[in-house]
Amino acid sequence: KLPKEVKIVEVGPRDGLQNERQTISTADKVEFIKRLHKSGINDIEIGSFAHPAWVPQMADTEDVVRELTPFQGHYSALVPNRQGLRRAIDSGIEEIAIIASASETFSQNNINCSIKDSLKRFEQIITLAHQQSIRVRGYVSCVAGCPYEGDIAHDAVVNLSLQLSELGCYEISLGDTIGIGTPLQIAELINAISQRVDIDTLAIHCHDTYGQALANILAALQQGVSIIDSSVAGLGGCPYAEGASGNVATEDVVYLLRGMGIATGIDLLKLLNAGRFICHTLSRRSQSKVAIAMQTS
Ligand code: HMG
Ligand code: MG
Repeated sequence: KLPKEVKIVEVGPRDGLQNERQTISTADKVEFIKRLHKSGINDIEIGSFAHPAWVPQMADTEDVVRELTPFQGHYSALVPNRQGLRRAIDSGIEEIAIIASASETFSQNNINCSIKDSLKRFEQIITLAHQQSIRVRGYVSCVAGCPYEGDIAHDAVVNLSLQLSELGCYEISLGDTIGIGTPLQIAELINAISQRVDIDTLAIHCHDTYGQALANILAALQQGVSIIDSSVAGLGGCPYAEGASGNVATEDVVYLLRGMGIATGIDLLKLLNAGRFICHTLSRRSQSKVAIAMQTS
């Protein structure tokens, strides 16, 4: 079932940076995104239209979008509600990502409404976005467990994924928000979802909190998943999931795939360069094992 090609969706500029306390300049964000694109990554989540008081680091997303226009790649930004959609439309971005959750408590904490209300909200957002020819990607958070509720039933994830797909999300990204999943669990979950939702539209979004991300990604690949979300240098974390560490590092995913003969179109050395740039900007060590192993100077 292994795919021949994988699409990497780089979420570093959004998921990676959204939790950073020190303000990163718009110019540095734009340079970071340009370097990621130069490495061969076409799909990049470049920011978020969350409420600036909730996620201050993303407050300049309009400016980031403007600086990147006309777009070289396929760029997207997070949209939590109608107001966020308005900002997205005004910015000219061509794709948005909505954030649903398989956990009721996480939904309340993250977007201040119930799962049921969020679906009504998403339906309106998707309709309005499509009227503007904006593509919509859907996240399902807490697919392998919730920081507040613990275990999450596979059925809850399957149903929500199906609903988002039926509402018009062209891709569904399955988020292990706090990185607690393990490979057999992920394999079973994806198997269950793929009975109802086209496997070619499923992405896996792993945080590496418990060091399981690459193992979980391999399990997802073996189920036929061919879209992987990752953050260069393993940046990231979610402000509404205490203790959630970064996403799986893009360098490590690219290394894994290269070793398995699966094409990504990404130049690992250029990717390492993008990782070094952002780590230098943040005065931070890379969380990518591959970047650490291959560091030159
Ligand atoms: P709220 O406070 O309930 O908003 O926030 P509200 O509708 O009550 O409005 C309050 C005021 O905020 C109003 O202004 C609105 O106009 C304004 P006032 O009338 O008082 O002057 N407002 C806004 N302004 C700018 N942009 C907006 C916006 N919305 C309202 N978008 C809201 C609700 C959804 C906005 C808030 O809860 C929010 O921003 N949440 C986002 C949380 C977030 O971004 N979390 C991190 C991303 S999710 C994640 O990381 C997981 C993921 O990676 C997958 C995984 O790992 O599993 C995706
Ligand atoms: Mg995430």
